[in-house]
Amino acid sequence: MAINTDQVLVSHSEIEQMLERLSSEINRDYGDEPLVVVGILTGAFIFTADLVRRLEMPVIVDFMQVSSYVGEFSTGELKIKKDMSYDIKDMNVLIVEDIVDTGRTLALLKELLLKRQPKSLKICTAFDKPSRRVIDLVPDYNGITVPDEFIVGYGLDLDGRYRDFDDIRIVRKE
Ligand code: IMP
Ligand code: MG
Repeated sequence: MAINTDQVLVSHSEIEQMLERLSSEINRDYGDEPLVVVGILTGAFIFTADLVRRLEMPVIVDFMQVSSYVGEFSTGELKIKKDMSYDIKDMNVLIVEDIVDTGRTLALLKELLLKRQPKSLKICTAFDKPSRRVIDLVPDYNGITVPDEFIVGYGLDLDGRYRDFDDIRIVRKE
């Protein structure tokens, strides 16, 4: 089976416009208050790097690597592959994700991080696929809403590949 990634869904210039809009919303909302930005590895590494360079408040950049899986008797469990290294108690925290799909990963992550008593906790995603949601989760900052297609590029992968594309492409298996 061949993989075709010819179809561009979001161009690089649309991504740049999205970064400008999101960063001005975040700059407006937090003002000069320090912000801990938690990028979710691996998919959000490019988005996090692009976003933090447009933020104007003092920023601490940290990363977590997590995955969610649905157990036989549970709605979902979070597996932490890498925890963040900064203590977020009484800090404003912004989770930065590549894409929200079912919403499971972020719902579980939010629950976990709230136990650490941050001053505030919000979610910023580059892409949102609301048609796939199984858990009621609305990102506080949403870049671009995408249809129910598997997409790659700008950090998003298929089996580790295509993260380096500077635009978003639809995967077709043919
Ligand atoms: P969920 O919201 O818990 O279902 O998981 C979201 C995660 O699934 C994202 O962080 C991505 O790693 C992955 N994912 C979901 N949709 C796509 C896609 O279209 N392309 C690449 N990865 C995706
Ligand atoms: Mg991911």
